[in-house]
Amino acid sequence: MGEKSGSRGGWFGWFIVLIVVAVIAVAIALTVKQKMHKNGSDFEAAPVPGPPGAVTQKYADALKTAMQFLEIQKAGKLVDNKISWRGDSALKDGSEARLDLSKGMYDAGDHIKFGFPMAFTATVLSWTILEYGDQMKVVNQLEPAQDSLKWITDYLINAHPSENVLYIQVGDPKADHACWDRPETMTGERPLTQLNTSAPGTEVAAETAAAMAAASLVFKSTDSEYSSLLLKHSKQLFTFADKYRKSYSVSIPNVQNFYNSTGYGDELLWAASWLYHATGERSYFEYVTGKNGEDFANWGSPTWFSWDNKLAGTQVLLSRVNFFGSKDVSSSNVLQKYRKSAEAVMCGLLPKSPTATASRTDSNIPSDALILNAF
Ligand SMILES: *[C@@H]1O[C@H](CO)[C@@H](O)[C@H](O)[C@H]1NC(C)=O
Ligand SMILES: *[C@@H]1O[C@H](CO)[C@@H](O)[C@H](O)[C@H]1NC(C)=O
Repeated sequence: MGEKSGSRGGWFGWFIVLIVVAVIAVAIALTVKQKMHKNGSDFEAAPVPGPPGAVTQKYADALKTAMQFLEIQKAGKLVDNKISWRGDSALKDGSEARLDLSKGMYDAGDHIKFGFPMAFTATVLSWTILEYGDQMKVVNQLEPAQDSLKWITDYLINAHPSENVLYIQVGDPKADHACWDRPETMTGERPLTQLNTSAPGTEVAAETAAAMAAASLVFKSTDSEYSSLLLKHSKQLFTFADKYRKSYSVSIPNVQNFYNSTGYGDELLWAASWLYHATGERSYFEYVTGKNGEDFANWGSPTWFSWDNKLAGTQVLLSRVNFFGSKDVSSSNVLQKYRKSAEAVMCGLLPKSPTATASRTDSNIPSDALILNAF
């Protein structure tokens, strides 16, 4: 496979992951909506997230299939494997640095572990669980979701062996894309790529910090020790990302063919927003509402949400603070700017809004939401 198409293959893989996550959210929302129709209360706003509604089997099935996709992508020594054609693989990943990087997930049908989109998947999966965990539980998908999340965060913890070192890739994409084989039987080299103070990568370190802060909220009530560990790594990585500001695409030009980043400002704001939600510490609030907001938030310019651009997600997260935060923070003028931008994004997506985007699928889903524009 050529380099260019390889790159597209990589993008497409995580594009599928995003679709899967979108399917999860839509399936849950539709399950609830279906119930409301049955009750004849079409005109009331759907209580999402809210108490679980009646289960609509086809959407429950879609959610299960989406969760299975994550199960299938797992590397390492599988535990309780339910996929008959998958087995243990990549057991020695990380050994050249005396680390256990065997877990984590493969990219699409490849055998590469790309830290940037993998961390983003963990962040979005955490968010899904936080918002819709009750509904997922009713159809027995909460546990698989938590399990897949932990499969990634276990890897991310091991990939961060000291404050200013983060391993961001395992495997050689060029060699990997040239070879069709099963991860269970792969024999190629598994080179490691790291970030450090001489080769920093703000967007990947910040996204990994976001993933760990979000996941710390998911595991807070069930495993407080693990949750605290995630938070500790998250804070360190955020400091590393912020203090040594440089795009990983610039520090390590080799990564440009796969998941090239267009900038790190969005990841810094996104990570600080998650850290604020996870810790309630004022410094993270000030981070997003102060100069960094001015520099990176791009208020008033609605964008799509993707592995490369987290501004829309940041705006929604900070709208939460505007709605539900304590009085001293919720009244911030800067939060209003984030909220207005979030509203502009939402109004572009909702079919009946006057500013609904024009390019839509037959089912009235905005193609922007499917990130097709990113291609
Ligand atoms: C820092 O990371 C770069 C890029 O991955 C690598 O080439 C370099 O060897 C690393 N430095 C150390 C001291 O390991
Ligand atoms: C990667 O992105 C940077 C901007 O962040 C750009 O300058 C560079 O040309 C891109 N590389 C490729 C191969 O697209």
